[in-house]
This record gives sequence, C-alpha cells and structure tokens, in this order.
Amino acid sequence: MTKNIAVLIGSLRKDSFSKAVAKSLMPLFPSDYNLEIVEIGDLPLYNQDYDDLDQVPAAYTTFRNKMQTMDAVLFVTPEYNRSVPAVLKNALDVGSRPYGASVWDNKPAEIVSVSPGAISGFGANHHLRQSLVFLNMPTVQQPEAYIGNVMNLLDDNQAVTNADTLKFFQVIVDAFDTLIKRY
Ligand code: FNR
Repeated sequence: MTKNIAVLIGSLRKDSFSKAVAKSLMPLFPSDYNLEIVEIGDLPLYNQDYDDLDQVPAAYTTFRNKMQTMDAVLFVTPEYNRSVPAVLKNALDVGSRPYGASVWDNKPAEIVSVSPGAISGFGANHHLRQSLVFLNMPTVQQPEAYIGNVMNLLDDNQAVTNADTLKFFQVIVDAFDTLIKRY
C-alpha cells in the first residue's frame, strides 16, 4: 500500500539549499511512497488561545488535516543560531495541539540538517531531535544526516548530481524506509 511522507523544510527562502537537498532526496524513495512538500510558511505564530475551537486559524486546520493523512515525516532543515528555524518549530507546535490531538504521535521521522558551513547544522539537527522525542516520533538514529558545505554539492540547477553524495543520500533514504516498514 502506498505510504504518504510529508517533507517539511525549515526554510522559506526561494533558493533554499535545504529545499534543493530535499528535492534531490525525494526521487530516491521506493515507488510505493508518495512524497509531498507540505508548506508551513502560512501558519500564524502559535498561540494557545487558538486551541479554543472558535478561534482556530484556517491555516492550522488545513495543515493539521493534511498531516493526518501522512504516515511519516522527512525534516530537511537549515540551522539558525545553532537551533531549529522558528518557522519549523512553529509548525511542530501547531501540529502538536490541541492537547491529545497531536498530528505527530507515532509517525516515523528522518532529520536531515543542511548548512553551507562545516558544522553541518548539528545544533538544529539535535534540537529538533529533542522535540521529536517528546512528540513520540520514532526517528532514524543511524546514519546521522548532516549535510555540510552544501554549496559544493549542488550543480548549476541546484541539484545534487555527485555520485558519492547521491550514494550517501540513498543510504539515508534506505534507513528511513527500514524504520517506516517497522511501524
Ligand atoms: C544562519 N546560518 C547559520 N548557519 C549555520 O550553519 N549555523 C547557524 O547557526 C546559522 N545561523 C543563522 C541564523 C540566521 C538567522 C540565518 C538567516 C542564517 C546560515 C544558514 O545556514 C544559511 O543562510 C543557509 O543558506 C540557510 O538555509 P537555506 O535557506 O539555504 O535552506
């Protein structure tokens, strides 16, 4: 049966390297997966008052309904100030509420951090991992996916074409596939 994977990108930038990496990872999944980039940039900043049923922003409902149709989540994110970009943390918070109705519960996840720098988004990767523990999302442990010096990996069309990098990307995807099939 086809499984749906949401791809959440922690950058709204038009020419985002993270988005470019996500787009190079997506075709590597087996054909029985349907991958979709779910937009998170239109979600108002989470406010717990919105949990009052009369006040729920329409964008929250659309996002939560979409995420309910997903079987797993691939996070591809840059690092901002050694942590998770606010837009992605906001999406996590929105999806986690109202209390008891989290869209994340028990969904397998994969984290790929991306950076033009050498530290490769390690801080974002692990801060995100901390939230996923609380959200009860079984997350790929190995291999860890830190994509550093990303500008050297993209060609003129913002695609990853280097054979060694694609080989590593395939290992990342295969580990996620194995985790998903266990659930
Ligand atoms: C950054 N950048 C950055 N990079 C990094 O490796 N560690 C960091 O802590 C930060 N901090 C940071 C904060 C803010 C506010 C910005 C705007 C940027 C640089 C960042 O990795 C770079 O801009 C990437 O290109 C952002 O990812 P996308 O948009 O290309 O996916």
